[in-house]
Amino acid sequence: MEMEVGFLGLGIMGKAMSMNLIKSGFKVTVWNRTLSKCDELVELGASIGETPAAVVRKCKFTIAMLADPASALSVVFDKNGVLEEIGNGKGYIDMSTVDPETSTKIHEAITSKGGSFLEAPVSGSKQPAEAGQLVILAAGDKALYEEASKAFDVMGKKSFFLGQIGNGARMKLVVNMIMGSMMNAFSEGLVLAEGSGLNPHDLLDVLDLGGIANPMFRGKGPNMLKSNHTPAFPLKHQQKDMRLALALGDQNALSMPVAAAANEAFKKARSMGLGDLDFSAVYEVVKMHKD
Ligand SMILES: NC(=O)c1ccc[n+]([C@@H]2O[C@H](COP(=O)([O-])OP(=O)(O)OC[C@H]3O[C@@H](n4cnc5c(N)ncnc54)[C@H](OP(=O)(O)O)[C@@H]3O)[C@@H](O)[C@H]2O)c1
Repeated sequence: MEMEVGFLGLGIMGKAMSMNLIKSGFKVTVWNRTLSKCDELVELGASIGETPAAVVRKCKFTIAMLADPASALSVVFDKNGVLEEIGNGKGYIDMSTVDPETSTKIHEAITSKGGSFLEAPVSGSKQPAEAGQLVILAAGDKALYEEASKAFDVMGKKSFFLGQIGNGARMKLVVNMIMGSMMNAFSEGLVLAEGSGLNPHDLLDVLDLGGIANPMFRGKGPNMLKSNHTPAFPLKHQQKDMRLALALGDQNALSMPVAAAANEAFKKARSMGLGDLDFSAVYEVVKMHKD
């Protein structure tokens, strides 16, 4: 298999995803805003594109994994951006978590130049990205979805095609809204256990044997109790997702008081300088309220 794929954005997720593509035999050309982050990929056999436009010029399809709506738009629309080289026969796949409006803007710009576009945000964090076990939530151009299926099979354990542009973004925001609310409830539970005289490690064991056992509690709980919040999913991105999910609720006149409260806690954590830590660091906000 020797398919030329572009990859823009080598953060926690993009690095792991592009590495898996290289290891599976794809010819990958990478670009990252901070170019030095390309070095590790080059050692594995990747080529470097000097700009997003240079990557798109070289590749039949290009994948992006960027921080947020602002970076997703900038990489497409700014000077030396994707739009300068996209055209007939070329595909662009944005796997970043953004809102449906951002995705629609990118879709319109790419297709107006004759290119094809797929949004494909992912469920699953650093470890699933490294293990090629992501869940891919795609929407948009069905032919591009099929063309990219070999790459999706490398990066993920399951891909969904959800129909029209916006549906992938919406699904991803719903999932992360639930996850952010769960993380807050979990943090409050740990603090309540400890504050009322229980051993919080016993709580972890009890939770893990019951109907609300889940990999997130199991994986993050012990580290949270040690205040170890080494980032797998940066808190600033979780707060961005809560904000975008609340906006989706707003547009649909849906009241979401639990998510709104969780968003406030993540905002508070950001204001305390915890944005680059794992989103489990919201535990520190909840703990602070106890003192
Ligand atoms: N981590 C997870 O568990 C996880 C899971 C599912 C989905 N996601 C989503 O996946 C996306 C990437 O997450 P991540 O954890 O990999 O984030 P990350 O480690 O913070 O990486 C962000 C990437 O975006 C780039 N970037 C930021 N601002 C930019 C700009 N203005 N112009 C160009 N590039 C810019 C960064 O470049 P520099 O290196 O130059 O800063 C970096 O490559 C986010 O949308 C996130 O919500 C993350």
